[in-house]
Amino acid sequence: MVPLRLLTVVGARPQIIKAAAIARAVERANGRISQTMLHTGQHYDAGMSQVFFDQMRVPRADIDLGVGSGEHGTQTARMLEGIERVLQRKEHDAVLLFGDTNSTLAGALAAAKLHVPVAHVEAGLRSFNKEMPEEMNRIVCDHCSTWLFCPTDTAVANLKREGFRIGLASSPRIDEPLVLLTGDVMFDNSLHFKSVAEERSTFLRENGLLSDGFMLATVHRPTNTDDPARLAGILETLCEAARVERMLVVMPLHPRTRKLMDSGLPPALRKRLSAGKEVKLVPPVGFLDMIALESNARLVITDSGGVQKEAFFFRKPCVVLRKETEWVELVQHGQARLAGSDPAAVLSAIGDFLRNGAPACPDLYGDGLASDRICEALLA
Ligand code: UD1
Ligand code: UDP
Repeated sequence: MVPLRLLTVVGARPQIIKAAAIARAVERANGRISQTMLHTGQHYDAGMSQVFFDQMRVPRADIDLGVGSGEHGTQTARMLEGIERVLQRKEHDAVLLFGDTNSTLAGALAAAKLHVPVAHVEAGLRSFNKEMPEEMNRIVCDHCSTWLFCPTDTAVANLKREGFRIGLASSPRIDEPLVLLTGDVMFDNSLHFKSVAEERSTFLRENGLLSDGFMLATVHRPTNTDDPARLAGILETLCEAARVERMLVVMPLHPRTRKLMDSGLPPALRKRLSAGKEVKLVPPVGFLDMIALESNARLVITDSGGVQKEAFFFRKPCVVLRKETEWVELVQHGQARLAGSDPAAVLSAIGDFLRNGAPACPDLYGDGLASDRICEALLA
């Protein structure tokens, strides 16, 4: 039996995390798939990259492009060049891409131009806000793909609206792609790692945190971080939330946010933050600590796509620091509330969730077998 030779491209933190779910399914495919791991190097700090390979048993990168940070054009161009060079060796039958980062975009363009079929995990998501770099990346990737693996019904419906035919292609190709509802590989991960985190994470104990005794926050979107006044406003609001609700906010800081904070916060806010009594800032944490934080927080406040969903996986209400979300079903079911960065809206959503909780809700992201479905579709 000749295995399917897959080139799996990762680069940013959430992609390494999603690759862990696929890696477990590849193992279960019993030699029918051989995977080459390519790391673009978009994220490179140990706490943004290596920790996930180590903790989540992601196969180590066979190829590391070491691209690093840069302007969108420069960064994407470097990745494009590197991925193209690898694909020109003609050693791969398909390229597997995750999500909507610049690494996704580069992988999609390089593969499509060389006629190597693309499989897109997390296809069909739309924010309908093209000012987000991710929106351009995901649209381009979907339209370069041969397999579009959708996590939700909404994602399938979005693709249908863009002219994709749903579920018909028996021998998929770029002009007749397969759109398939698979469920979410991140849900697979949360099921798999919940008990591992319970066993191994010491973060709560080491930091004196009690279950349901804190709120968890993450912020990294350019819209929330690039404008110093807006970032300061969000941090001020988190301090206020902690003061009013008498509950600590724990905030693992994305390096983008850390850098922008370092370059200019009002002195009074800086002092308030460094006291650590209201908002406790910590470096980015590994996945096991993150799961421990999410599953023990009383509430989650975030602009992250992945963290919004994980909050739901652990049935924690989520205040979304954005005006729109790709994960609309969370809002529709009352599990998440869109608050943007408006202090009054954020504080009111936090207060309401803390007092009233979120309504009961069925699973929205599949059955925990999305990764197996993806591998089987690639092998069909
Ligand atoms: C990227 C993705 C975003 C995703 C996020 C996940 C794009 C356009 N954006 O955003 O969709 O939600 O990853 O976390 O692809 N930095 C470090 N060390 C690192 C990585 C980054 O210091 O290991 C700093 C650099 O100053 C860099 C900045 O963070 O310029 C932003 O990194 P970048 O990968 O460009 O974008 P993210 O904001 O991480
Ligand atoms: N995450 C983590 N440590 C952190 C912050 C996030 O392990 O300090 C995980 C989180 O559990 C989720 C993923 O990173 O699985 C989300 O990534 P991120 O917020 O960077 O990007 P997005 O999902 O918004 O693209």
